[in-house]
Amino acid sequence: MLQEGLYYGVAGLRSQVATRSDAKLLILMTYVVTESCIKCKYTDCVDVCPVDCFREGPNMLVIDPDECIDCTLCVPECPVEAIFAEDDVPDDQKEFKALNAELAKQWQPIIERKPAPPDADQWTKVKPKKNLLER
Ligand code: SF4
Ligand code: F3S
Repeated sequence: MLQEGLYYGVAGLRSQVATRSDAKLLILMTYVVTESCIKCKYTDCVDVCPVDCFREGPNMLVIDPDECIDCTLCVPECPVEAIFAEDDVPDDQKEFKALNAELAKQWQPIIERKPAPPDADQWTKVKPKKNLLER
């Protein structure tokens, strides 16, 4: 019920922002999936998102920045700590802000958790692996 209230509250704000000329006064943040997700793709994050804003690619997920309501629920769910508030994305991961926005428009929604790739645990500590992102 709390999540539902939060959703409708923020959804209402979003629609107001879209129609108000002083929209710049109210800026909602988004969360960003970063490199650690690549080839891990545990999908624990999907189960807790109240607005279903995760999108699925071949070997990672991204968050649609136009849908995220900044609830923070997904952050502690990720076993590899791949998710950051956009203002807290580490310097070496900043490109993932644009990548989440771009790929969210190309990939399909994922609304239920699914089994991780069989070799996911082997990739949890591997870095860099940006070059392994499949689109
Ligand atoms: Fe979904 Fe995470 Fe955004 Fe909350 S913070 S709306 S759980 S993506
Ligand atoms: Fe990726 Fe973590 Fe979600 S590995 S799929 S961001 S739980």
